[in-house]
Amino acid sequence: MKKHTENDIIAALSKVMDPELGRNLVELNMIRDLNINGGRVSFTLALTIPTCPMRDQIKSEAQKAVRQVPGVTDVDITLGAMTAEERAAVLGSAMPVMPQIKAFNQVKQIIAVMSGKGGVGKSSLTALLAVELRRQGQKVGILDADITGPSIPRLFGLPSGGLRGSDEGMLPAITTTGIRVISANLLLQDEDTPIVWRGPMISAAIRQFWTDALWGKLDTLLVDLPPGTSDAALSVAQALPLNGVILVTTPQALSAMVVRKAVLMLKQLNVPIMGVVENMSYFVCPDCGKQHEVFGPSHAEEVAQTAGAPILARLPIRPEMLALADAGRIEEAVFPELAEMAKAF
Ligand SMILES: Nc1ncnc2c1ncn2[C@@H]1O[C@H](COP(=O)(O)OP(=O)(O)OP(=O)(O)O)[C@@H](O)[C@H]1O
Ligand SMILES: [Mg+2]
Repeated sequence: MKKHTENDIIAALSKVMDPELGRNLVELNMIRDLNINGGRVSFTLALTIPTCPMRDQIKSEAQKAVRQVPGVTDVDITLGAMTAEERAAVLGSAMPVMPQIKAFNQVKQIIAVMSGKGGVGKSSLTALLAVELRRQGQKVGILDADITGPSIPRLFGLPSGGLRGSDEGMLPAITTTGIRVISANLLLQDEDTPIVWRGPMISAAIRQFWTDALWGKLDTLLVDLPPGTSDAALSVAQALPLNGVILVTTPQALSAMVVRKAVLMLKQLNVPIMGVVENMSYFVCPDCGKQHEVFGPSHAEEVAQTAGAPILARLPIRPEMLALADAGRIEEAVFPELAEMAKAF
């Protein structure tokens, strides 16, 4: 059997065209980390944008082409994405999109919602705050930066596959009350499909949600982060001109170390902490009206001190939250505590 070489593989891949750009994958510098091990060939296919609608077609054509090289038994392709600079380099002046979008988008303030631990209510708070700001007459957007665990569309009852695009960029989905939403979930045809992306692709997607989306004129853009001080949080802080961060905590989630870590990271990145929200702080008994600290005493003061920022709100546990969230009717939820806080924004 003829032994295949790197040149044979490259030659095969240079016959595969990107259908949109009309140039071949090798010429577009899309083939990375080519590795040949006996009959096994693996490489990364760096797409111009991670959400490229043609990605499955390009991948399967690349797979077919390499498989036809004599001696190849397995082809393992990892999808990746180019950096903005790489993309600009291969696409050159054929990419006038960004400046146009920059001229169109006018976002007055960007606030990210962050927490040390998961499940404390970041997504709920992001959604509720957006709803409240909207009620107060603001133009509001939500950038769902939780790429692998997106929950914003669900809260608003927005269907999967609802994101539309044009040559000019991505068009946000719009909720019942007019909140503009961009989320990885809206790109998928099926809500249950897991997104198994690596760090660099997640960062690229977050950047794209900011640079390639037609947000238009917004008073406030809220960013829902995944839990912790992950790459995604770092990407958001680096890619978006954040005005500040709201830290969410719960009485049972306090770990001074976790909070300190988040605070330190934000300090290093020069992002101000606007304040702390303690969620699931207490439960108001519907019979006697008394407040019960079911998850233990509040630690909001300590967290606020560590963060060097004020307590913006303490939100009660609301059993009806679950039903509203599940039904995609978060816009009907009322938290008077947030109404007060939202006035400050
Ligand atoms: N104040 C509240 N009262 C009752 N339930 C709440 C409250 N806040 C949040 N929840 C519920 O707690 C769960 C976790 O909330 P949410 O998804 O907003 O947390 P998260 O911090 O975004 O989680 P993750 O870290 O996974 O992104 C959800 O089921 C939500 O409906
Ligand atoms: Mg969340």
